[in-house]
Amino acid sequence: MKQDLIVILDLGSTNNTVLARKIRALGVYSEIHPHDITADGLRALKNVKGIVLNGGENRVVDGKCVEVREELYDVGIPMISIDYPQSKCKMKLDSLPEQDTLKKFLFEECGAEANWNMKNFIEDQVELIRQQVGNRKVLLALSGGVDSSVVAALLIKAVGQQLVCVHVNHGLMRKNESESVVKVFRDELHANLIYVDASERFLGKLENVADPEQKRKIIGSEFIRVFEEEAGKLEGIDFLGQGTIYPDIIESGTKTAKMVKSHHNVGGLPKDLKFELVEPLKQLFKDEVRACGVELGLPHDMVYRQPFPGPGLGVRCLGAITRDRLEAVRESDAILREEFARAGLDKKVWQYFTVVPDFKSVGMKNNARVFEYMVIIRAINTVDAMTASVEKVDWDVLEKVTERILAEVENVNRVCYDMSPKPPATIEFE
Ligand code: XMP
Repeated sequence: MKQDLIVILDLGSTNNTVLARKIRALGVYSEIHPHDITADGLRALKNVKGIVLNGGENRVVDGKCVEVREELYDVGIPMISIDYPQSKCKMKLDSLPEQDTLKKFLFEECGAEANWNMKNFIEDQVELIRQQVGNRKVLLALSGGVDSSVVAALLIKAVGQQLVCVHVNHGLMRKNESESVVKVFRDELHANLIYVDASERFLGKLENVADPEQKRKIIGSEFIRVFEEEAGKLEGIDFLGQGTIYPDIIESGTKTAKMVKSHHNVGGLPKDLKFELVEPLKQLFKDEVRACGVELGLPHDMVYRQPFPGPGLGVRCLGAITRDRLEAVRESDAILREEFARAGLDKKVWQYFTVVPDFKSVGMKNNARVFEYMVIIRAINTVDAMTASVEKVDWDVLEKVTERILAEVENVNRVCYDMSPKPPATIEFE
């Protein structure tokens, strides 16, 4: 292993991730672990150079204050504490901006080296994946999203043809998205890729289903079924690759951190698939996952793509999905993305997309009355997707997008711009 490690023990701080990122920003790899780790558990981690006891407001759990095990003080690894009055550490950090004390602790007290970078991370992970997998096979559901794409590239580097990728096209992908996954992974990275066009099957199941939650459930469970069917056709698979990233683990709750939301990867694949998991990105934050993708040579567009919901365009073709409206969503979304890129807004705006409601309005085309659908444009900025503000898009850009949608997208006679922040609106409509 190339990297030194600083272990942050979670004693109820709400700033564990901020601290982890601060230490990584200083070039030293850091991980957050539960407060009750044993001395043996600590010794089993590789290259531990220092420990931060990170206390805070959630330190009282079920009426009791959580403490680290006494035995940790005898392991002989330098320690520092933050907001943890009972600690026996010599060094204390009064607050996270105290950059100088943190640096002194890392580089003088612990003797850590600033050797955390993506090149080393990839080399270490390749070695770890090879140790775990040996000459056996790994299966990966490759959606084409940032996380699954980066895991795929990393696994290809580590175990090559022992990786089997399955890309399920549920018919709700954006324009040319599945084609691009096949081109990059099969043609350029020479991955062992199974492409399943399940569009008809998904659209059939979704016919006449208007309730948003019901739509999501159908898409999620159908995805699992298709994936299981494909996995059943393969022989000798022992591992399942997953694009789990660090916030998925942290937000799902630790012993002292409150659960933010539970995360499901690949649409919540069932535990009884009986595969061992390979999750090489599980210690990375999103920006680090992107940096890893770039280092692995993935195309910029794939690595820096905006978030896209698992149920895809299915939650943007409002109400019961029909093929004409689904095409209107897909085409208008492609136009919006093209024009935003042309105006440089793709690098500025966090998320932007179109939706098509399931009602029509009156209009006029070629001097005749028409009764057609409308496209709603949504463009928002956010830090964590919990709240969002509306982007003040330049009027000329909006005019150009509108002009093109009205000229190029069939069955549409009206374009609107959504002015609603989150809350009260959510980012997606369904
Ligand atoms: P909302 O609509 O809840 O969306 O404000 C917040 C962010 O989450 C994305 N989103 C999803 N992402 N699976 C995902 O991976 C989903 O089912 C899903 N639903 C919403 C949404 O695009 C926005 O970025």
